[in-house]
Amino acid sequence: MPAPRHFLQLTDLSSEELGYLFERTTQIKSRFKAYQKYWPLQDRTLVMIFEKQSTRTRLSFEAGMQQLGGSAIYLNTRDSQLGRGEPVEDAAQVISRMCDLVMIRTYEQSMIENFAANSRVPVINGLTNEYHPCQILADVYTFVEKRGPIKGRTVAWIGDSNNVCNTWLQAAMLLDFKLHVSTPPGFEIEPERVGVHDSSHYQSFADPMEAARGADLVTTDVWTSMGFEEEDAERQRAFENWQVDAAMMAQASPDALFMHCLPAHRGEEVAADVIDGSQSVVWDEAENRLHAQKALMEFLLLDRVND
Ligand code: CP
Ligand code: NVA
Repeated sequence: MPAPRHFLQLTDLSSEELGYLFERTTQIKSRFKAYQKYWPLQDRTLVMIFEKQSTRTRLSFEAGMQQLGGSAIYLNTRDSQLGRGEPVEDAAQVISRMCDLVMIRTYEQSMIENFAANSRVPVINGLTNEYHPCQILADVYTFVEKRGPIKGRTVAWIGDSNNVCNTWLQAAMLLDFKLHVSTPPGFEIEPERVGVHDSSHYQSFADPMEAARGADLVTTDVWTSMGFEEEDAERQRAFENWQVDAAMMAQASPDALFMHCLPAHRGEEVAADVIDGSQSVVWDEAENRLHAQKALMEFLLLDRVND
């Protein structure tokens, strides 16, 4: 049995494969919009394991699998033996004998790596403390859809050096664009820890207004990610000046886009008039999770498809 292809972090795909996925996403999306039935994953089953909450990830994977002709099963820690301490290695052996594909949202990246090492089928990262690769797949796709190639463009990340930020760092390296990052003191990025050893694709700025200057895309995320709730009070103070507001958007390129992975907190990391304003593409971004992940699931199970 050949080793399965996993998607545990963005760097599990080459830039050429990411380019293929973006093209494939366009085809799958337009077919879906034209109400054309496309069931390449008929009789295939996706198991989704959630150890954290979700709206978009659960819905986009579950609906996406059904739209491709397959079925999806939802497991959460509370209801499964994983929540009672069954070893991840054992769970992976069993679960991967009963399905064709696994998606996991959990805390430590090491958990999904451990699961994948014991899985007979592809494993997809649906968010860990360290990475959120499916999000960046959809985000970059959304940029390309609206503005053309991202190569050579500038993306500004304002806020926390979290899972989404880490994945943007990897994307800049893979897809050859520049990431401007501004985080509050004490929350700095650690590129080496996420496999980004060359500083040519990112630049850190103490002042978020400087980071936003000239950017083609401004993006941010919550100040307190899932699993870090006990730091919330400290973070509310530390991140006070890292809100994307109209003045910050005015520093960016005149046709800059605004993105947020959602859920958002208006009045914290983003001002209401930005997320609800004309430069915001957050609803298209959220919808594209569905289309991009359908292309991803098809690729992991069937490799490249030409029809
Ligand atoms: N952006 C995102 O992953 O949303 P959910 O937490 O709702 O899945
Ligand atoms: N950084 C956020 C993303 C939520 C989709 C979190 O991990 O909670």
